[in-house]
Amino acid sequence: MPRTAPLRVVVLASGTGTLLQALLDARPAAGSWTVTAVGSDLHSCQALDRAAAAGVPTFTVALADHPTRADWDAALAAACADADLIVSAGFMKLVGPAFLAAHDGKMINSHPSLLPSFPGMHAARDALAYGVHVTGCTIFLVDAGVDAGPIVAQEAVRVLPDDTVASLHERIKVAERGLLVSVVTSLATHGWRVAGRKVVPS
Ligand code: GRF
Repeated sequence: MPRTAPLRVVVLASGTGTLLQALLDARPAAGSWTVTAVGSDLHSCQALDRAAAAGVPTFTVALADHPTRADWDAALAAACADADLIVSAGFMKLVGPAFLAAHDGKMINSHPSLLPSFPGMHAARDALAYGVHVTGCTIFLVDAGVDAGPIVAQEAVRVLPDDTVASLHERIKVAERGLLVSVVTSLATHGWRVAGRKVVPS
């Protein structure tokens, strides 16, 4: 059955928040999805500033404010309780078992490589060091693995001969911004379910 209410999207971010900004700028006026909140593991970062400037509620669940990582994970899960879809957009923490149990199949992450190549924190650096001629970005459903969940969408980006890590990562981020907006719109419009390694309309 098609949804009647907009999909409620919570974005998690820790950094400069340019992927978040692409989502904020693309929010449909009366449409299939809306950003209901932006959360971070940091008390202060550019992503939270961008959310506040857009009038979107923010929250912080900081690791240091919780006695254990499991407590932090449960608190983060609770903070996202109202989300239909959670978007990790430069959120620099791995979620744990409590979060995954509460939000199984509801969290996507954007990663700056064509997975399964170059998982981890330094994807652009690793792609450049390996000498690949093409890299890109991947949006996938988060599971218990590291950058290992079922792939929702990918886009290729050419590596140029004079690329630095910064120039390559920035060109990948341009692709990530567009892909993320189209993925969120598509998930909101068609729904989604996991069939083996594939993410298909529900
Ligand atoms: C993106 O490349 C994302 O894939 C990675 O961190 C970057 C976030 O960029 N995990 P920004 O903070 O949205 O500008």
